[in-house]
Amino acid sequence: MKRYLMTPGPTPVPEQVVLSMSTPIIHHRTDEFKGIFKETADLAKRVMQTKNDVVMFSSSGSGAMEAAVSNVLSEGDKAITVSAGKFGERWGKIVKAFGAEAVELTYDYGDYAKVEDIENALKNNKNIKAVYIQASETSTGTFHPIDEIGLMLKEKYPEALFIVDGITAYGAIDVKTDNWNIDIGITGSQKALMLPPGLALLSVSEKAKDVIERNKNRFFYFDILGEIDAKAGKFTPAVSLVIGLNTSLKMILDEGLDNVFKRHEILAKATQEAVVALGLELLSKKPANSLTAVKSPQNISSEDIIAKMKEFGVEISNGQGHLKGKIFRIAHLGYFYKPDILMCISVLEMALKKLGYSANFGDGTKRAMEIFLDE
Ligand SMILES: Cc1ncc(COP(=O)(O)O)c(C=O)c1O
Repeated sequence: MKRYLMTPGPTPVPEQVVLSMSTPIIHHRTDEFKGIFKETADLAKRVMQTKNDVVMFSSSGSGAMEAAVSNVLSEGDKAITVSAGKFGERWGKIVKAFGAEAVELTYDYGDYAKVEDIENALKNNKNIKAVYIQASETSTGTFHPIDEIGLMLKEKYPEALFIVDGITAYGAIDVKTDNWNIDIGITGSQKALMLPPGLALLSVSEKAKDVIERNKNRFFYFDILGEIDAKAGKFTPAVSLVIGLNTSLKMILDEGLDNVFKRHEILAKATQEAVVALGLELLSKKPANSLTAVKSPQNISSEDIIAKMKEFGVEISNGQGHLKGKIFRIAHLGYFYKPDILMCISVLEMALKKLGYSANFGDGTKRAMEIFLDE
């Protein structure tokens, strides 16, 4: 059966990227690979909209999150972590794991961070070394206003580092790393970068480098400054993934960043409006353009919807934590185009109908088609 992967990571990998990764392996200390590595880091800077150094770790995205904590904070240091879902909670856990104090700003799942709350937390807690947040909280499909937060920090608390997990944002949503004052921006390969899992990327500002240099470090592998000094990987890089990333970043830049962001915006709009036309409700108060989280209809578990869609070959994701069984999440970040959404929404409609939910049958796909025809 043909499989249609519509989960918020891993996401589908384009044929060109697969082919580029299937070339015979080359040694990582050759000039050839050093050239590819440098070019790839430069391409990543363009996609991440930064002039700062970009470091690549051979790890999943959480490795870069850990590096952004272990390199910046020492035992006893204090940081604000914004928690509005599973990945925000992870910031708090990592900060505590390294013996630092997490001032956790907590929101309900589906809600988004308010700039004034972060400002108040900084006012009420002295010596905050960093603010940790997601750009897009993948467990709820929510976009935090990181532009406003970054600009507030720059103006009022310039000594605090702004550290953004953009794992389901970079390459899908217009995240302006430098303009929005992001000191460390993070992403992972298996999302909008259209690669298999295994690479994590971080952009690191000069201010962040300064803080890291003065930090009493507690790490070995995830050594941000060591990676910057080594230029083509302190350890053996994930050679094939770096080559694949080189291809996928060129695809993104060839399409044009603005076009890529616009494409994601249209896919998100069509998905959101389609499910609303079906009488369903979005979970998020501020939906991200990278994925759509939808509340399951009463009396139908999202697990059943997901299982029914899988019978057609379409894989979407369940909720996480207490939302398991209560929501489902449709991804549209990376290698996705209009027909993918039409296919997914019509399969969703068939799954719902089979489960006894037949309200507005056909209206979801119709709404998505209308939106695409209007563009
Ligand atoms: C926003 C966000 N942060 C962190 C992670 C964790 O990344 P990984 O599973 O690659 O470690 C994910 C993965 O889904 C994510 O979406």
